[in-house]
Amino acid sequence: MYKQIHELLFPNEPFFGGPMMGLLGAHRYLPMTATVHYLAKDRDDGMRFLEVGSWLGSSALVWAEALEMFASGPKSLLCVDPWEVYFSDKEVADGEIYRNFNSLLETGLAYDLFRHNIGFAPASVEIDHIRGGFARASAFLRPGFFDLIYLDGNHHYESTRQDIEIAKKLVSEGGVICGDDLELLMGEVDIEHMKASGDVDLAWDPKTGRQYHPGVTRAVGEAFPSVSMHYGFWLVQKKGDVFVPVSLKDCASFVPSHVPHDIKVQINRLVGVSEEAPV
Ligand SMILES: C[S@@+](CC[C@H](N)C(=O)[O-])C[C@H]1O[C@@H](n2cnc3c(N)ncnc32)[C@H](O)[C@@H]1O
Repeated sequence: MYKQIHELLFPNEPFFGGPMMGLLGAHRYLPMTATVHYLAKDRDDGMRFLEVGSWLGSSALVWAEALEMFASGPKSLLCVDPWEVYFSDKEVADGEIYRNFNSLLETGLAYDLFRHNIGFAPASVEIDHIRGGFARASAFLRPGFFDLIYLDGNHHYESTRQDIEIAKKLVSEGGVICGDDLELLMGEVDIEHMKASGDVDLAWDPKTGRQYHPGVTRAVGEAFPSVSMHYGFWLVQKKGDVFVPVSLKDCASFVPSHVPHDIKVQINRLVGVSEEAPV
């Protein structure tokens, strides 16, 4: 059996294509791991997680390591991603990062690296993946089955709105729906500008002067009256017919082991702890 090139180049470690491409927003790993601790307090018979948008597998490793650290019983993570080009020509023209994203997807390297990288997840966590868009894949998933659903796929408004709708059906009672890239709440931004920017990934809000993901701000704002938000990571918990914010106060968190030392130091500095201290 021949080995793929990345298996030869990085036989003993995951690879994320440099500090930016695969480890976007790594400071959010703290509230992500804290969320697993929060859920684990009430569950001793295992947990099932679903991730929408896995890219090179970094966030999947975060969930897997946090499950191993905090959860008891059987633990599983299902990753759903088409690993196909999805940024528009306009977005590609606007930024190099989108060009890089699309070319990693187009060449198939993103998918190969995802499979390589999740090979470094703790063995106690069963990881599966579906290669396809969430809307189509969800037809095969059981309603009320998942204790945590993480939404980090296409951030355009219509996609995010649809992902949230589907997630509401798939999450268990007491389970959490969460996601990435909520920098500004709907009450904070210029509403007209936000509505006109639903088909772009990132935009500058004229009211605050800050860069944000308008599709995420709008879809989350319309779906939930109130959400918890930590460094752009957002979450709500299902309580009967409603979804409520979650306090992560007193929950343990940590920077997962696949994060390189220099980024780990930056994250710890951001939250004001010394270099190696757990947070
Ligand atoms: C920002 S990346 C995810 C980053 C990843 N969660 C992490 O933190 O390591 C967005 C991913 O969403 C995927 N995606 C785009 N449309 C999708 C869809 N309809 N369903 C699921 N995933 C989608 C893309 O292929 C891409 O890999």
